[in-house]
Amino acid sequence: MCGIVGYLGGREALPIILNGLKRLEYRGYDSAGIAIYNGSSISVCKSKGKISKLEKQLQKRKNLSGSVGIGHTRWATHGEPNNINAHPQYSNSNKLCIVHNGIIENYSTIKQKLIKEGYTFKSDTDTEVLINLIEYVKIKENVKLGEAVQIALNQVIGAYAIAVIDNDKPDEIVVAKLGSPLCIGVGKDEHFIGSDVTPFIEFTKNVIYLEDGELAIIRNHKDTLFRKIVDDSKISPTINKLELSLDKIEKQGFDHYMLKEIYEQPKAIQDTLRGRLNISKGIIKLSGIDDYINKFLSAKKITIIACGTSWHSALVAEYMFEKISRIPTEVEYASEFRYRDPVVERNDIIIAISQSGETADTLAAIKLAKSKGAFVYGICNVVGSSIARESDTGSYTHAGPEIGVASTKAFTTQMTVLYLMAVKLSKSKGIISEKIFRKYIVEISNIGNKVHKALSANNEIKKIAKKFKSAKNCLYLGRGYNFPIALEGALKLKEISYIHAEGYPAAEMKHGPIALIDKDMPTIVIATNKINYDKIVSNIQEIKSRKGKIIAIVSEGDKEVKEIADYIIEVPDTIESMTPFMTVIPLQLLSYHIAVMLGKDVDQPRNLAKSVTVE
Ligand code: F6R
Repeated sequence: MCGIVGYLGGREALPIILNGLKRLEYRGYDSAGIAIYNGSSISVCKSKGKISKLEKQLQKRKNLSGSVGIGHTRWATHGEPNNINAHPQYSNSNKLCIVHNGIIENYSTIKQKLIKEGYTFKSDTDTEVLINLIEYVKIKENVKLGEAVQIALNQVIGAYAIAVIDNDKPDEIVVAKLGSPLCIGVGKDEHFIGSDVTPFIEFTKNVIYLEDGELAIIRNHKDTLFRKIVDDSKISPTINKLELSLDKIEKQGFDHYMLKEIYEQPKAIQDTLRGRLNISKGIIKLSGIDDYINKFLSAKKITIIACGTSWHSALVAEYMFEKISRIPTEVEYASEFRYRDPVVERNDIIIAISQSGETADTLAAIKLAKSKGAFVYGICNVVGSSIARESDTGSYTHAGPEIGVASTKAFTTQMTVLYLMAVKLSKSKGIISEKIFRKYIVEISNIGNKVHKALSANNEIKKIAKKFKSAKNCLYLGRGYNFPIALEGALKLKEISYIHAEGYPAAEMKHGPIALIDKDMPTIVIATNKINYDKIVSNIQEIKSRKGKIIAIVSEGDKEVKEIADYIIEVPDTIESMTPFMTVIPLQLLSYHIAVMLGKDVDQPRNLAKSVTVE
C-alpha cells in the first residue's frame, strides 16, 4: 500500500504534493511526509498519523520552498508507524531522499553489508536500507543517480514503486517500479508522479503507466529517459489520455465518501450497463466474451479469484454461473490460490476481480495462472491498473473512483458485469429460451432504479442503527444467492465500526453459531428468498425462541417475516438471482450509520488501506 507523489517543473512543489497526498490517503494513513529541494539542500517534514497532522507541521516550517519534491503517505509494513519510520527517508549523507511503496524482502542482508561499510540507520524501515544502498553504489561506482538506482535495484528482492531525489542533481527525479503501481503525469515542461493518477488530474490528462521492471529518469526541460532495470535497454512508453475528472473524486456534499459512493450505485450500475445492453435488439455486448466466445463455450469450469469484498462478488457469481449458465464454477481467495499449487490447465478460464486492479495477491495469482497457460478475464474498476493490463481480456466496471476504504459501488458493479456474463453465456450456450433471456435483460436494465428505491429506506435504517450501535457481536444470515451478502454485510460492519460480526449460511446456524444467540446478540437475516423462504422463516423462529433480536431484510409486501422479526427493512422485489443487488444496500447503510454513531473514521478505518499492494 502507501501512496507516493512527486513533482518536477516550474511551480511550487509543496502544495501540489500535499494535495496529491490527500487524494492518495486512502492507500495508507499511518504517517506522511514530504521532501523538497529548497535551492541548497533537501528539506524533509514528516509526521505520524494522517495528512492533516503533516499539514499542521508544515505550517511551522519555512525552508520547504522549491519546485522539485516527493511525498508519501504510509501504511506501515517494516517498523511501527512513528515519525522516524515515516517517509521520505534520507541516505546517511542527507544528500539522497526516497519515498517507497512496497517491501524489500532481503533488506536485512543488505543492511548488514552496509553496516560493515560504516553506514548507520535511524529507522526500522527497509526503505532506509534501500536509499543507503543507492548512496553506497553511487559513491563506490562513481555513477550518477539514475545508474546508482538501477544497480541497487538489481540487488534487491521484493516489490517497490520508488521516487528518489538527489542534492547533487536537483533537476531530476528517478522513479522505478516492480509490483507496486506508479504513473507519470506529463505536462508542459513539468512532470507529476503518483501511485495513481488522482494527484495530478487537474494538471494534465497525459499519463504514462510505468510497467514492472522499468525505471525513468525524469529531467527538467529535457526528455525523460526510460529503461529496463534488468539490462538497461531503452523503452518507448505509451502516453495515455485520461478521462477522469476532478469532480468525480470529490465528496459533493456528502459527509463521507462511503455514503456518497453508496448513493452513487444506481448511476454506477447504469454506467456499467451502458453500451452493453440493447433491450430492443435483445443483445448483451461484452467484447471480452464476444472475442473469445469459443473459449467460454468449451470451458469445463471457471475459476474466479479475488480478495475481500471482490471475493464476495465472486461467490455471488458462483451461483449465477452455475444456476444461469450451468458452468461449474470455483471461487478462490487469490492469496490461497497463489501458494497452493492449484491444478490449472492450458486454456482454463480464470476470472480475476479487483476494484483497484492492484491487489498484490490477485495480481500474483493471475501471473501464476497465466504461467500455466490459463486464459485470464479481468474485472477491474481502475482503468489501466496492473490487473487490467495483466489480463488477456476483460471488462471494466465503470463505477468511477471509489475512495472510501469500505467497498460499496465497486461490489454492485462487479455483480452487474458478472450477471451480464452469466446471462450472455447462458444464451450463447442455448440453454435459456429467448423469452427467459428477455426477462433477464429487462430485469437487469431495471436494477439501477430498484437500487435507487432500496436507498429510500435510509431513515428507517438509521433508526435501527441507533438501537444496535452498542452491540458487541452481530450475526448475519442468508441463503443461496444471499449467503455471500451475509458475508459482505458482516465484513462491512467489522471494517468500519470494529464490531465483531460473522456471516453464515442460514442453515449452518444450527451447527454451532446458534449457541451464541441470546438477548444481546442481534441477528440480521436476509429473508427475500423465494426458494427456501419457509426454511428462512423457521431459522428466524429458532432465533426468536432463544430471545435473539432479529433485523430482517424482506421483499416489499412480505407478511410472514414481518410478524416475527423485531425490525424489518423492505427492499424492492426482483427475481431471485438479482436479490443480492437489493439486499446489500441496507447492509451497507446499516454499517455506515452504526460506524458514524460510534464516532469511527468511516472513510479511513484503522489498520486498513484501499489498495493492498503487499502480501
Ligand atoms: C472491503 C474491501 C476489501 C477489498 C479487497 C480487495 O470493503 O474493500 O476487502 O475488497 O482488499 O480489493 P480489490 O477489489 O481492489 O482487489
